[in-house]
Amino acid sequence: MRNLGYVGYRPAVPVLLNSLERVTYRGYDSFGVALVDHNGIEMVKSLGTVEEHRKRAEHLQGSIGIDHTRWATVGGVSEANAHPHMDCTGDIAIVHNGDIDNFRHLKQRLQSEGHVFKSETDSEVIAHLIEAHGGRQSLVKATKKALKELEGPLAVAVLHRPSRQLVVARRESPLVIGLGEGETFVASDVPAILPYIHRVVYLEDGDIALASESGITVWNSGQEVTRSVHQVAWSADQISKAGYDHFMLKEIHEQPQAIHDTAAEGLPAAGQASATPMLPVEDPSAVLLLGCGTSYHAALLGEQVLSSMLGIPVSARVASELHEGAFQGPGSLAVAFSQSGETSDTITALRRAKDSGYRSLAITNVMGSSITRLADSTLYTRAGPEVAVASTKSFVSQVVALYLLALHLAPERAKAAGIRQQLRSLPSKVGQILANTEAIEAAARGLAPFQHMFIVAKGLGVPVAMEGALKFKEVAYLHTEGYPAGELKHGPFAMLDQNTPVIALVGNDQHRTRMLTAIKEIKARGPQVIAVADRDDAETAAFADVVIPIPRSDVFMAPVLQTVVLQLMSYYTARERGCPIDRPRNLAKSVTVP
Ligand code: F6R
Repeated sequence: MRNLGYVGYRPAVPVLLNSLERVTYRGYDSFGVALVDHNGIEMVKSLGTVEEHRKRAEHLQGSIGIDHTRWATVGGVSEANAHPHMDCTGDIAIVHNGDIDNFRHLKQRLQSEGHVFKSETDSEVIAHLIEAHGGRQSLVKATKKALKELEGPLAVAVLHRPSRQLVVARRESPLVIGLGEGETFVASDVPAILPYIHRVVYLEDGDIALASESGITVWNSGQEVTRSVHQVAWSADQISKAGYDHFMLKEIHEQPQAIHDTAAEGLPAAGQASATPMLPVEDPSAVLLLGCGTSYHAALLGEQVLSSMLGIPVSARVASELHEGAFQGPGSLAVAFSQSGETSDTITALRRAKDSGYRSLAITNVMGSSITRLADSTLYTRAGPEVAVASTKSFVSQVVALYLLALHLAPERAKAAGIRQQLRSLPSKVGQILANTEAIEAAARGLAPFQHMFIVAKGLGVPVAMEGALKFKEVAYLHTEGYPAGELKHGPFAMLDQNTPVIALVGNDQHRTRMLTAIKEIKARGPQVIAVADRDDAETAAFADVVIPIPRSDVFMAPVLQTVVLQLMSYYTARERGCPIDRPRNLAKSVTVP
């Protein structure tokens, strides 16, 4: 479910397929490409791998085209359902990302008018609807009319044989235009087209654009509009594996830099004012933290950190499960965490918070992403492009951004807690873990044969345990529960035996004694216990079977160090189990549909 398009002077197939290869980590059950050549629109669709698709498509000629990688939602995985989809005449081809909520009704109507459908997808209605509105004669006009009838999020690229035009449109789903010299690129996100461009335009909701070799013309609500051109801060090198076996490992190793760069956003030189962007509300009466998956775990950590410092109600909510009772109303601040800035559930939740009178802040890694346009202000994490499906460097950068927020909202408390100094020494502590992974690799080899596992912790460690468990599930397919240590005796003890290893996160905080007691209780029931603890923590070493040592740190930074250990352990376990680490089954990098 990613769109790409090209119009320019080069042969389009290599450009489109290279770009498509860069986004196949996102959603990838089938592929398709369509080009305009002198015979009409030529199209190739493939199941399987992008390499096979490349072989089948490389004979296509032409310098204007569209392509797509699909992650099935409506209709199974088949060549017929793969994009592009054509109208009845074969003069119009479309690729689409999103959902058409009213497609059944539209399809029935179009069928009754004589249109013949070849797929089970919702997307195909777009091609027939444009045809029905006179698309063969005037593509832009017909696309505008069609869009008025289509309900739901969409990003669409439309190819037109008679005029050799490429028209694109977006509503809620991401779409970016790359501007080159004598060529124009269309993509769902910047990394896909990074090697070719330095300047991009982010289309707004409701925009329709005609892309040509010389750039774009954009309309919204019937009026021609101008959209700003942005310089791209990322470079093409950042999306190569740079000698690592997997993007996930590379991105884990990029964390000292990501922490440094993100902290630099909000930690100006001593004596200067904070560089953190002005908050939309300086003195909120309540804070609501939103996110999905890994980003929700950052929000959960934020709930504990900010509650301890602010003295106002702070709550974290899974964005996809937000209910009306969660909203406090005007004067409150909603903070949405999203690496991509495109997660539909998070965007919807933030919009609902705004509708309830909240001021809003987005914490995101992607400049110009949809959430930045919705939120009143944005704090960027500076993790660089994250390619692996599993979030790693974006999570620790979100945690750093959270501490910047604490420094801004509760400067005295955050200062007293030493947050500023701790952030400055964090990259080198993470670096020490990355430089010495033997113990982690050995522990991962030991975990690889098991089917079930627990990661237990207390306090700030609980969101870390949940995040670690998510990593083991998604990359190593090892069923892992992240659990508050004190809760095991309320049920999960029944699961414990020698076939269920337990990882225990032991910090130097007020929970330490209870954690050590929990380890004793767990060991008495048979499991092997791997503790993650300070390198000089002899007491924990006496209780656990194995200790993974981490540099001594203050309470607030321990979650980051523990996270890095769990990321590495899940990575090495996945490698031991032969899992496709950067492309876990059934997952897409960003989930842009509800
Ligand atoms: C897990 C993972 C997902 C994302 C989630 C939200 O490793 O990557 O759980 O965290 O889909 O994505 P963003 O942060 O882009 O909103």
